[in-house]
Amino acid sequence: MSKMVKSGLCVSMMMTASAVWAQETADSVAPEAATSGQIQALSEAARAAVSAKRDGQVVEAQNWMVAAANPHAVEAGAEVLRNGGTAADAMVAVQTVLGLVEPQSSGLGGGAFLVWYDGASQSLTTLDARETAPLAATPRLFQNEAGEPLKFFEAVVGGRSVGTPGTPALLEEAHRRWGRASWPSLFDAGIELAEQGFEVSPRLAGLVERDAERLARFPTTAEYFLPGGAPLQVGDVLTNSAYAQTLNVLAAKGADGFYTGSIAADIVATVRGAEGNPGVLSQTDLALYQVKERDAVCAAYRAYDVCGMGPPSSGALTVGQILGMLYSYDLAALGAENPESWRLIGDASRLAFADRGRYMADSDYVPMPTAGLVDKDYLAERAKLLAGDDALPEVAPGNPEFDHALNWANDEAIELPSTSHISIVDQYGNVLSMTTTIENAFGSRLMTNGFLLNNELTDFSFRTHRDGVPIANRLEPGKRPRSSMSPTIVMQDGAPVLAIGSPGGSRIIGYVATAIVGWADWGMDVQQALSAPHLVNRFGTYDIEQGTDAEALQTPLEEMGYKVNLRDLTSGLHAIEIGETLKGGADPRREGIALGE
Ligand code: GLY
Repeated sequence: MSKMVKSGLCVSMMMTASAVWAQETADSVAPEAATSGQIQALSEAARAAVSAKRDGQVVEAQNWMVAAANPHAVEAGAEVLRNGGTAADAMVAVQTVLGLVEPQSSGLGGGAFLVWYDGASQSLTTLDARETAPLAATPRLFQNEAGEPLKFFEAVVGGRSVGTPGTPALLEEAHRRWGRASWPSLFDAGIELAEQGFEVSPRLAGLVERDAERLARFPTTAEYFLPGGAPLQVGDVLTNSAYAQTLNVLAAKGADGFYTGSIAADIVATVRGAEGNPGVLSQTDLALYQVKERDAVCAAYRAYDVCGMGPPSSGALTVGQILGMLYSYDLAALGAENPESWRLIGDASRLAFADRGRYMADSDYVPMPTAGLVDKDYLAERAKLLAGDDALPEVAPGNPEFDHALNWANDEAIELPSTSHISIVDQYGNVLSMTTTIENAFGSRLMTNGFLLNNELTDFSFRTHRDGVPIANRLEPGKRPRSSMSPTIVMQDGAPVLAIGSPGGSRIIGYVATAIVGWADWGMDVQQALSAPHLVNRFGTYDIEQGTDAEALQTPLEEMGYKVNLRDLTSGLHAIEIGETLKGGADPRREGIALGE
């Protein structure tokens, strides 16, 4: 069975704010290096890559490269690439290991977006493996009997938030289109590590400890993450025989082995049987799941075209809007330490988030002004709003060219930071940029067959209307929730020059846009662009990464009229620059590396 369908273009939508602040907790686990045991277990090349990241240096290679959030996953991908596999082959190995060693962020129970530059045809395309709302779900899934939105974690924890996973179908579809290696061999690393065990990383242990109460709600999940009732500790050796068995099924039967049969039955039973908060996912939803091919959405910036994932992601459109507005200003002359640069970036982001909140959703369900949102003239007009000296007193959505009479009310979906990003370049000139997620850290907290199930449906707006006007990103049966994931390939004269992306909820958009500015405008190499301190503005408040040099910008930005919030900003950027050589970088805030030969 093919789980793939080709869809036409895309389109999209919008924002909101105040409800978000009270909820944001999930990204502040201290970034620590891997344990010494983990480092000893790595190959010499991977140990060198860990050192390079610690020293802030790019990793350079001639033939291929992989950058992702965990050294085990990177090594699995490197082995595939070394043996002549493609970037698509390597991605299968990377993702299946990530689902084991970084289970809180992504895995078989989640969804992903993949941007692909094909070396042979010299063309760009994207695959949408976003979760879908069950056919039995109603637009009021996340409302109480009075029609009021549920509290965020009341909605998240349990079966109600679980959408039909897309990742297993994506692995198969990417391999079917672009793979060279034998399908079963791509699961070897994940199976071996699941059977023999891996050391629990500092990040995983920290997140388990913080989330222990929620993880304890469901027996299978509790048994795995809180063995004997106590949270996993850093350095514990963890095996996962159920996961090894699931990978064996995928290796033998392909995605069918996941979407039908006993694994599908177990998923449905887990979702529908979730005590206190059951969901409505069915085996029909699983059997009907389709990956969709969509055109890439590109926006011009300086000498580049910045290309990525269109609707149902808001990623490429919002990154493209921010950069499209900044295009009118000389950030290179202003420099990275100039408050004026950050005023421009901050207010360009606010204007882009206003459009995101109104117009962006699953364009298979709602009409969207996709082309209008990244139209050069529209963005040049919006950029004129940035001509002053102070923070804009208020921002509102614009009026992009829209061949549809409908308008939408502003959305209020909450997205917390988790997720993972993979960048890969292979020896055949293929480039892959994929962001993958189960949404919140540990998703719905439900676990079956060795993997966690997503809570992606909470990326929909909990409200359906505002003052009688429908919200584009409201839940509808079969629809895909709006995402912020921004897997990106930057093109120059028709050739790829940078693959980049990050986790981080709706801050993904700021992380990716500012890393591109650092690289394109401020002369940063790829590692410097990922390591640079974060300043992110979505809805008005300026988040500044605490403990970094960016704190010096607090007072000038406050004097311009911004409310400033110093906090951890745990991105997980992974990027590869493609030039005469390959140059890779990994975010120092997470546990990953870049590795190549
Ligand atoms: N759930 C995170 C995102 O899709 O943006």
